[in-house]
Amino acid sequence: MTTAATKGLEGIIAGDTQICSVEQGALIYRGYEIHDLADHATFEEVAHLLLVGHKPDAKELRFFKDELIANRALPTQVIDYLHGAGPMLKEGTAVPMDVLRTGVSILGNLDKDSQDNSPGANLRKAKRLTAKIPTIIGHMQTIIDGKGLIAPNTGGDANLCHAANLLYLMTGAKPNAEYTKVLDVSLILYAEHDYNASTFASRVISATLSDMHGAVTGAIAALKGPLHGGANEAAMDMLSEIRRDIGPVNDRAKIEAWMHKAFADKRKLMGFGHRVYKNGDHRAPILHGLGRRVAEQRGPEFVGLFELGERVQQIMNDEKNIKPNVDFPCGMAYFTMGIPVPQYTPIFVASRITGWAAHIMEQHANNRLIRPIASYTGPALREWNG
Ligand code: CMC
Repeated sequence: MTTAATKGLEGIIAGDTQICSVEQGALIYRGYEIHDLADHATFEEVAHLLLVGHKPDAKELRFFKDELIANRALPTQVIDYLHGAGPMLKEGTAVPMDVLRTGVSILGNLDKDSQDNSPGANLRKAKRLTAKIPTIIGHMQTIIDGKGLIAPNTGGDANLCHAANLLYLMTGAKPNAEYTKVLDVSLILYAEHDYNASTFASRVISATLSDMHGAVTGAIAALKGPLHGGANEAAMDMLSEIRRDIGPVNDRAKIEAWMHKAFADKRKLMGFGHRVYKNGDHRAPILHGLGRRVAEQRGPEFVGLFELGERVQQIMNDEKNIKPNVDFPCGMAYFTMGIPVPQYTPIFVASRITGWAAHIMEQHANNRLIRPIASYTGPALREWNG
């Protein structure tokens, strides 16, 4: 006899973790609070914290960064696949998240450690994935744009940090300090979030003693959905839709009318709400502030986008008491930096790979199969020939 399930497993503690704490009061990675990390750490330092387990000293950081740089280039098989995926992306049978998922899967086929779940092999695979995922995104984008790959032999420029190199691989231009900062902080904010849907998916897969590339492939599929990581693209699409509907001026009455129609249609507004944070997502104001500063440098069109977003936020807060999550300012910030919308969720992957890999290693280190039970609500017992 089973009892009724809690829909969406809301409030259920599904396991222990030493990696991250997600609470109303604070978001903490291995003891460090997210504002502290956003203000004082780099993505590479946070990646080391999550993957290796502690804040790196100067020597460890240098070594870690060198390892990432040395592993940026993609095998030819993955580059060939990306070229082959160009027409699928153009026709829309595949979107960048799908291509990234398959790219990661192919990397698994080629990785000499692929079937080894030992801590050493897992850490090596985690670093290789962290290094190579931005290169998949960058090469994919230049293929979409009909341009040549940027630095395919090295996967970028060894003098650029992880965030700057990702932008360089996508555009062929070295980004300025402000863009690099916004992307670097967004990667820090996106890196880890305890038992969110994609991380939980990766733990379920690794708990069967399946391998890291398989678990990450599954996690990418989970992150793609608009209720999860796909919300950063969906939030920007929604703002573009509002802009199309109301015209170029942020007319308050028109914005309110648009929102009231959305409420009447019982529409989910993308980039708002959260399963855990009911009083606001700690990450959202950090990214909003940084993105808005870049918008102010870029000019009135981009400030207007942020003002539209702020009005939408205000109405959601006043009328529904629902706050923006990190994906809402992310959409506006990445748009302001000229990043193509379909790459927003792949960039989320470029960050969350560190959190996923940390959880996969934690699961493998202290494993038990994850196998809950269901509350059966189907027909009563009956006979096939009855
Ligand atoms: N727009 C309109 N109404 C909403 C929204 C929203 N974005 N979010 C929650 N609500 C309403 C919801 O309809 C429900 O109303 P009612 O009680 O009248 O049915 C109430 O608020 C409670 O929400 P819920 O459905 O119980 O929330 P949940 O915990 O099941 O879902 C969520 C959380 C994030 C899936 C949901 O808020 C949502 O769909 N948001 C939009 C998608 C999104 O932004 N996802 C990103 C999540 S955070 C970062 C990440 O993972 O990338």
